[in-house]
Amino acid sequence: MKHLLKLEGMPGESMREILDSTSAIKARRGAGEAKPLDAQTWAMIFTKSSTRTRVSFEVGIRELVGSVMFLNANDMQLGRGEPIRDTARVLGRMVHGAVIRTYAQADIEEFAALSNIPTINALTDDEHPCQILTDIFTFEEARGPINGRVVTYVGDGACNVPLSWVYAAAALDFELRIAAPAEFQPSAETLAKAGGNITCTEDIQTAVDQADMVYTDVWVSMGMEAETEARLAKLAGYQINAKVMRFAKPDALVMHCLPAYRGKEIDEETFEAHSNNIFNQAENRLHTQKAIMTWLAV
Ligand code: CP
Ligand code: NVA
Repeated sequence: MKHLLKLEGMPGESMREILDSTSAIKARRGAGEAKPLDAQTWAMIFTKSSTRTRVSFEVGIRELVGSVMFLNANDMQLGRGEPIRDTARVLGRMVHGAVIRTYAQADIEEFAALSNIPTINALTDDEHPCQILTDIFTFEEARGPINGRVVTYVGDGACNVPLSWVYAAAALDFELRIAAPAEFQPSAETLAKAGGNITCTEDIQTAVDQADMVYTDVWVSMGMEAETEARLAKLAGYQINAKVMRFAKPDALVMHCLPAYRGKEIDEETFEAHSNNIFNQAENRLHTQKAIMTWLAV
């Protein structure tokens, strides 16, 4: 049984298989598409808010000729304390696949182990694997192979999005630099576990120097709202703007997983200057996730 639960430990060849099939799936959209989810029903169980992930999975499942049901976890008995292990064993007898967005990585891993159906991580506190596979596809679509390139992440370097970048770096052989205050950098254990060519620094200029891609995400991830004021103060110097982009390669891509908070992690001018690529990135969630579900279904 294949799942996509995290990029940690995922072989580079599997990532490559998904990335390499995405272009063909994108090109065939609406023109004689394959039907890998024919006669299947997939459940999407979300505990956190979502725009892109929800819409791209719902559309993607339908385009692969499956049926989809969206379940707000708070409307389920889960929200009243029914354990994940019972929910997993019930859904596993009724639906053919699950897409889950929640807090604890352990919950989604428990669901996958007990449901016995393909399970996809649609974001946990630890990782956002579908996002980072999409981001790499988007980079390669615009600039060619990512191996040997320099990807710089600026901002909260310890949340789910940069952590998935950390695990992709060794597997796909690119250099990753993280510019963040020390307390917002990945732990030494995480970096040791990931291996690869990764450096963390508080110095933005060093991190962005000649980068091929400069990436950011929100400063206040879902679940961290109580820390908003402190985070805005501590991360204030880690904004992507024209001054920062002057250190990168002239054709560097600016990327953002969205939602974007202008004036915080990125300024309005830089966001709009790179909006075409950023919205290609958002669109590519659909195509990459169709490739992921196709990969899981075979
Ligand atoms: N980037 C992303 O996952 O967006 P949503 O939270 O809107 O799904
Ligand atoms: N790090 C962000 C990503 C949102 C897509 C969060 O977890 O809220």
